[in-house]
Amino acid sequence: MFKWGCGLEFLLVLCGLELSWSCPRHCICYTAPSTVSCQAHNFLTVPEGIPPDSERIFLQNNKIHRLLRGHFSSDTVILWIYSNNITYIEPSTFHGFTLLEDLDLGDNRHLRSLAEDTFHGLARLNALHLYRCGLSSLPNNIFQGLRNLQYLYLQENHLKFLQDDIFMDLHNLSHLFLHGNRLWSINQNTFRGLRALDRLLLHQNQIEWVDHLAFHDLKRLTTLYLFNNSLIQLSGQCLDMLPALEYLRLNDNPWSCDCKALSLWEWLKRFRGSTSSVGCQAPVNMVGKDLKELRKEDFPNCSTAPNSESRAQTHNLSGTVNPSMNRSVVIGSGDQTSVVQPSRPSRSRNCTKPRNRLSKGKEDNEVHHSKEVMADKDNSSSDFTEGGKHDHTSPDGTVTRRKHKCAPRTTMRPPSGVQQANNRAAISQSLLHVHAIFVALITTYVGSILR
Ligand SMILES: *[C@@H]1O[C@H](CO)[C@@H](O)[C@H](O)[C@H]1NC(C)=O
Ligand SMILES: *[C@@H]1O[C@H](CO)[C@@H](O)[C@H](O)[C@H]1NC(C)=O
Ligand SMILES: *[C@@H]1O[C@H](CO)[C@@H](O)[C@H](O)[C@H]1NC(C)=O
Ligand SMILES: *[C@@H]1O[C@H](CO)[C@@H](O)[C@H](O)[C@H]1NC(C)=O
Ligand SMILES: *[C@@H]1O[C@H](CO)[C@@H](O)[C@H](O)[C@H]1NC(C)=O
Ligand SMILES: *[C@@H]1O[C@H](CO)[C@@H](O)[C@H](O)[C@H]1NC(C)=O
Ligand SMILES: *[C@@H]1O[C@H](CO)[C@@H](O)[C@H](O)[C@H]1NC(C)=O
Ligand SMILES: *[C@@H]1O[C@H](CO)[C@@H](O)[C@H](O)[C@H]1NC(C)=O
Repeated sequence: MFKWGCGLEFLLVLCGLELSWSCPRHCICYTAPSTVSCQAHNFLTVPEGIPPDSERIFLQNNKIHRLLRGHFSSDTVILWIYSNNITYIEPSTFHGFTLLEDLDLGDNRHLRSLAEDTFHGLARLNALHLYRCGLSSLPNNIFQGLRNLQYLYLQENHLKFLQDDIFMDLHNLSHLFLHGNRLWSINQNTFRGLRALDRLLLHQNQIEWVDHLAFHDLKRLTTLYLFNNSLIQLSGQCLDMLPALEYLRLNDNPWSCDCKALSLWEWLKRFRGSTSSVGCQAPVNMVGKDLKELRKEDFPNCSTAPNSESRAQTHNLSGTVNPSMNRSVVIGSGDQTSVVQPSRPSRSRNCTKPRNRLSKGKEDNEVHHSKEVMADKDNSSSDFTEGGKHDHTSPDGTVTRRKHKCAPRTTMRPPSGVQQANNRAAISQSLLHVHAIFVALITTYVGSILR
């Protein structure tokens, strides 16, 4: 790989050579593929003089506050501007960027809003990072036409609501990260069209309503995280629509383990994959128990057929559900489930312990152990809920065998020279990387022991 510093450039000018590789001041440029790296230099604006043929542009960790049309060439393939202070993106900034594959706008906390057509026409876009951008809503057609998108990072925003069909065009989407928002309702058509989705992270929201048909298109989903939400119940029907599901986490919700829980209990009995604990917070005699440990006798006087409460929630396939209309169906449900507020922080760190105590009468079996390993990972989950450059790989901590899914991303990393050129950011990044590998190794090891 050739390295063209600015000093060399100056020499070339002196020699009267025609310059095809200029490089902006305070940046480092490379060729093959042509790369401009201007990270961590307190730039307040996009530096001038980025060569028009640059394929990869790295501007992370500056203080850039506006992105305007003409800042970048439409030949850009990779553009990283995460961890700046972008407050405005001119809607046409990326228009005509038909080669763009990776756009990272994450961690620009004051961004707050985006124009509907900001990403239109990005037919090759593979990864779009919008985590921690202070977004409280998304325009209707913001993801329209992104048929190549595989990774969409929307975690740690302030999203309260997702419009029906907002992901409709994302036929190729594999990872959808929505954790750490303020969502409270998942409707029948929220996730319509996501036929290739593999991983859906919805933890750390305020979800209390999941429509029975919410997951109807997610035939390839293997991983669903719903922990730390406000779910009182979830019907088995809902989960029956996920034939590929392998990893499910439901802990830290105020589950009500009365007749309402019967269909979930039945589903859990049938399910062959890994699940977290499902701690009951109501009724009084069930508080602290794990729904998975209950027996049929713990549901006296419940009819085996889908109970009346869950039938009340069924919606017609054709109709749309207005979430504000009947959220009370889930909350109230007619019995003494007077929404016991979860004592979450204390419970979460110990979620495997109460079960051991409660189930002392029963013998521990293989399944138990593997489930406990799953639950213990509650701890490591913080590694990937914080939302950073490595988000897309870290959930592999639980799904190690899917490593290849993330492989294409490794080809998009900056060349080693770019990282070396950048002092502190590079070091912390590589530390993160080492950490991620370490976690992956340990999980693989534990996984192989269990097998
Ligand atoms: C980022 O932008 C916001 C809004 O313009 C401003 O209030 C804040 O001081 C900026 N932060 C930094 C670190 O420049
Ligand atoms: C979807 O992803 C696959 C690889 O997973 C790729 O071959 C294909 O071109 C992508 N785009 C579309 C529109 O299917
Ligand atoms: C649950 O999520 C909230 C944010 O929605 C967070 O403040 C809280 O710490 C989380 N609790 C646990 C136990 O992770
Ligand atoms: C179940 O129903 C029987 C008869 O209706 C009643 O005696 C019993 O108390 C009920 N059990 C519970 C737990 O509600
Ligand atoms: C929805 O279902 C209910 C009963 O299941 C039925 O009475 C109603 O006509 C249906 N509405 C539509 C629009 O299909
Ligand atoms: C459903 O919503 C309608 C309209 O808001 C309301 O009148 C009705 O009481 C709700 N149903 C239940 C069971 O809460
Ligand atoms: C968690 O477990 C530790 C060690 O077993 C115990 O000392 C502590 O009281 C437990 N905390 C809760 C909230 O159960
Ligand atoms: C979880 O993390 C806490 C500290 O954050 C630690 O004390 C505890 O041992 C950890 N538990 C497991 C199961 O790793």
